[in-house]
Amino acid sequence: MRKAEIIIDKYFLTGKVDKRIFGSFIEHLGRAVYEGIYQEGSVLSDEQGFRKDTLDLVKELQVPIVRYPGGNFVSGFHWEDSVGPKDKRPAKPDLAWGVIETNEFGLNEFADWSKKAGSDIMMAVNLGTRGPEDAKNVLEYCNFKGGTYYSDLRKSHGYKDPHNIKLWCLGNEMDGPWQMGHKTASEYGRIAAETSRLMKFMDPTIETVACGSSNLTMPTFGSWEYTVLDECYDEVDYLSLHQYYGNYANDTVDFLASSKGMDDFISGVVAICDAVKAKKHGKKQINLSFDEWNVWYHSNEQDQKLEKWVRAPHQLEDVYNFEDALLVGSMLITLLRHADRVKIACLAQLVNVIAPIMTSDTGAWRQTIFYPYMHASVYGRGTVLNTQVLTPVYESKTYGEAPYLDSVCIWDEENDALTIFAVNKSLDEDMEVSCDLRQFEGCRLAEHIVLTNDDMKAVNTEADPNHVTPTHSDATKLENGKMHTVLGKHSWNVIRLTK
Ligand code: AHR
Repeated sequence: MRKAEIIIDKYFLTGKVDKRIFGSFIEHLGRAVYEGIYQEGSVLSDEQGFRKDTLDLVKELQVPIVRYPGGNFVSGFHWEDSVGPKDKRPAKPDLAWGVIETNEFGLNEFADWSKKAGSDIMMAVNLGTRGPEDAKNVLEYCNFKGGTYYSDLRKSHGYKDPHNIKLWCLGNEMDGPWQMGHKTASEYGRIAAETSRLMKFMDPTIETVACGSSNLTMPTFGSWEYTVLDECYDEVDYLSLHQYYGNYANDTVDFLASSKGMDDFISGVVAICDAVKAKKHGKKQINLSFDEWNVWYHSNEQDQKLEKWVRAPHQLEDVYNFEDALLVGSMLITLLRHADRVKIACLAQLVNVIAPIMTSDTGAWRQTIFYPYMHASVYGRGTVLNTQVLTPVYESKTYGEAPYLDSVCIWDEENDALTIFAVNKSLDEDMEVSCDLRQFEGCRLAEHIVLTNDDMKAVNTEADPNHVTPTHSDATKLENGKMHTVLGKHSWNVIRLTK
């Protein structure tokens, strides 16, 4: 059996977890909105047409913030089309996804839905086909009290109180050739700076996120970040990162090493932010918004065959298997280990579209990835301890040396609770793990939750929704303040200690 050790010290801290690190994303794409969170006339929906079964699962996840309305969709979005009387709203072609957007569900409905879900909103503005003027107008519509054209328009639509949206994305993936109105780094950097400036004139309490590269493989990665920040450093608060992983070669060991790639990606972007800060002799620090992350590849082939210009097709409907859940667990650990700089992260997405929650006309169910996401969101709030992991490693094809054990410890002082998240990536060996907890006097083991399965490709479906579900392990022992446990091969573990 392999052996590892987790070393923590209550005075060695990475930083406080910003709860927005457990955010998610709803785009007007496929069946995320229509049939996902909204289905008027369904017996499963409430009086506003919001799917109650979806809302229950979103609440189970305790999603603190949801990014909206895109994604690629936002780069052609006219927000005015999505407000006011529903029968007057225009249907329009959405060039991002080759479908028809009816606008039956829009900005105000999303604000209502978010309230019911208990989530805040991270709103994106269109910097593709539009610009600063329009961004300023939508902010006026959302956040201005009243007595101006757009705030009074909101009132006339039945929303007396402002939505008070505090977090705004300045466009989406603006370097991508697939993006409507994509730009060079200096073009985008200037527009991001000016847009953010005008928006903060309008409402100085907001924060803004500038677009980083669309992903790490973009040929301009690095120089894009540097140039964009060079233009807009003083005007913005966060820089975005997006990354999806896939087990294309059916090489699970290599696939599970992707969290190492994510870790390197975050460290690289932090270095670029700090290089621009140093160059500018700046005082302010730019933090990171990892506002799209997940596994995404299962649906790629099937999506090539989709009929164009239909409404809400089954698009990007990845069915997640057990190994995907393990990687999602490792990615959550990676994000938490960088909690000093990653303040916002959005699992992309929330319902039906590359999502932890799936729906049909007859119900909703949890995909495998639902569980690590829920555990992290529910038990991962507090302070990240600077967790040293002494672990055996392996040589992965894509990412070089990768650890067999990914782990992070969270100390929740308010509730006197210590939570250890851990993934044993080995496909063939359990792992003996120890951790000295004598500084955390009085800690008792509350539970050791495990997600594992003999079949790495096991999935949950509507017919068999509980095929992959967490169980409890009795392998964890605490003796004289020292914890000893055995983490089963290929397992996601949540060890909860409370006083
Ligand atoms: O989340 C799906 C898509 O992935 C988003 O629209 C886009 O931003 C990214 O490329």
